[in-house]
Amino acid sequence: MIKVSPSILSADFANLERDMKRLEVAGADWAHVDVMDGHFVPNISIGAPVVRAISKVSKLPLDVHLMISDPAFYLDDFIKAGAYAITIHEECDSDIGETLRRIKDAGVLAALSIKPKTPVSALEKYIDLLDMVLIMTVEPGFGGQKFIEDCLPKISEARSLIDAKNPACLLEIDGGVTTENVERAKEAGANVIVAGSSVFGAPDMAEAIRLLGK
Ligand code: DX5
Ligand code: ZN
Repeated sequence: MIKVSPSILSADFANLERDMKRLEVAGADWAHVDVMDGHFVPNISIGAPVVRAISKVSKLPLDVHLMISDPAFYLDDFIKAGAYAITIHEECDSDIGETLRRIKDAGVLAALSIKPKTPVSALEKYIDLLDMVLIMTVEPGFGGQKFIEDCLPKISEARSLIDAKNPACLLEIDGGVTTENVERAKEAGANVIVAGSSVFGAPDMAEAIRLLGK
């Protein structure tokens, strides 16, 4: 079963409630929320108060992607704000194992992401702790970038690691995913699909979500 998690980075921030409803009606499984601190990535997006506001007006599980240098410091805010899943980056400054354990102890799905230049081997020592792995298919920081084809073998490698060590773990991809390139990512083993511009920019959002998830 594939899950589609549209990124609201491409939503209209002045009409977030409307756009969350549009995603629900169009059949999204989750909503992906990109949190950027202007330090881990060269862009600033939204924080926990916005996650909380969204969680009040939407039934969609919130898939919160923390592109921030010190997720441990802000973690409780995002847990209290109603996150369903929280992804931290292997490249961040916090203690990875301890932060993942805190996420799990709060009853939230714990996920670990790697940027395009980080090898899959960096995930190995945490695999038992993970509910989800996120393979970035663009350099994090901005929506609307081109899918990096060189990341496809990393999806396959992560699939092998998951199948061998923790088969229940989900495998998410994020960045530049379209209805054209998604097939290859799914063949490589991805089962949670994040897409921002290709969902919000589609002439028919429901059809785009259906194609990404089929
Ligand atoms: C990039 C973000 C992505 C991004 C996806 O830093 O993590 O979630 O918003 O947007 P598209 O699908 O437009 O690449
Ligand atoms: Zn993201």
